[in-house]
Amino acid sequence: MRILGIETSCDETALAVFDSNLPASQAMIAELISSQTIMHSEYGGVVPELASREHLRNLPLLLNQVVKDAQLTEREIDVIAVTAGPGLKGCLLMGVSFAQGLGIALNKPVVPINHVEAHQFSAFIGQDLEIPLPFISVIVSGGHTEIVKVNAVGQYELLARTADDAVGEAFDKSANLLGLSYPGGAVLAKLADEFNKRLATSGELKKFKSAYVLPKVMREAQGLSFSGLKTAISLCVSRAKQSANFENEKAELAWVIQRSIVDALVFKLKQQIEMTGIKQVVLSGGVSANRLLQSEIRSIPQVTLWVPKAQHCTDNAAMIAYLASLKIQAGIQTEDDLTVRPRWWLESLKGK
Ligand code: KG4
Ligand code: ZN
Repeated sequence: MRILGIETSCDETALAVFDSNLPASQAMIAELISSQTIMHSEYGGVVPELASREHLRNLPLLLNQVVKDAQLTEREIDVIAVTAGPGLKGCLLMGVSFAQGLGIALNKPVVPINHVEAHQFSAFIGQDLEIPLPFISVIVSGGHTEIVKVNAVGQYELLARTADDAVGEAFDKSANLLGLSYPGGAVLAKLADEFNKRLATSGELKKFKSAYVLPKVMREAQGLSFSGLKTAISLCVSRAKQSANFENEKAELAWVIQRSIVDALVFKLKQQIEMTGIKQVVLSGGVSANRLLQSEIRSIPQVTLWVPKAQHCTDNAAMIAYLASLKIQAGIQTEDDLTVRPRWWLESLKGK
């Protein structure tokens, strides 16, 4: 079965073709992503109207190219899977209406897919293995921060969700305070990792104590929250800006900030690992590319960690097509309600 995946929930227009008859390592036969990051960087964040317009322009062009790359014709596609939520309403509408139009033209079914649910399985794309169930899913992106117990495809128990900022936002806002380019999460992480390497090379890493100290957050409260840490980071950076040496201290600040964000998240994850007894952890979303986060999780005793390939950490259509194939394979009745759902909670989804 050949599944076309379509993703337009935020600022990436992405299309992919998955062929479930091929071995896992070859099944994702084509994937394309057109990122709008440069366009939005001028405004310091995603402008929904501009993003929607770009999706509208990109979708037919990418469709043309993705079927060419897959060496297929449109008629050889069996199912169309499209992100119906959560995300920006106008952006979702572009993808869903395009999918509906294509579905009518080709007389093929259109399957609505939950974007966050799709992230959860992105680490298994191309892997020739049984998905290790149950697992603890840690979804960390610019828009989502959730820890979920995945019992099976379609069967999820929410363990924790951020009450305010997403972890990617905490990275991006901190990067913005440091004057790093948008979206600064990865830039901040790189600066922090370089500083860490310098400390390690000079043998100072173990005993190094920064003059900048951030509080250990989320120790008492239930759930996740990054707003307190964000305020503390903002105060810390304001103080650092008063120093004539601020430019030279940015890397150290990035190091302190990255460690505090990762520490807070890993503290919560450890609690959930202890409470559930589940030692299989799957990371997904843009922040899953963060090396410190990966290494801190890997160092939790007995934990096995799965991380998506770099191109599947951020938003992509491969994960949309892949989840549709998992659902079809598991015999889960895929919905036919193509209403766009800007808010669409994982725990409301139904399994078999
Ligand atoms: O999943 P994603 O592409 O988009 C959303 O659905 O939000 O995630 C993007 C987020 C941004 O906040 C970006 O700064 C962050 O992921 N990010 C990182 C790293 N790479 C991307 N944050 C920390 N460390 C990284 N290496
Ligand atoms: Zn995403």
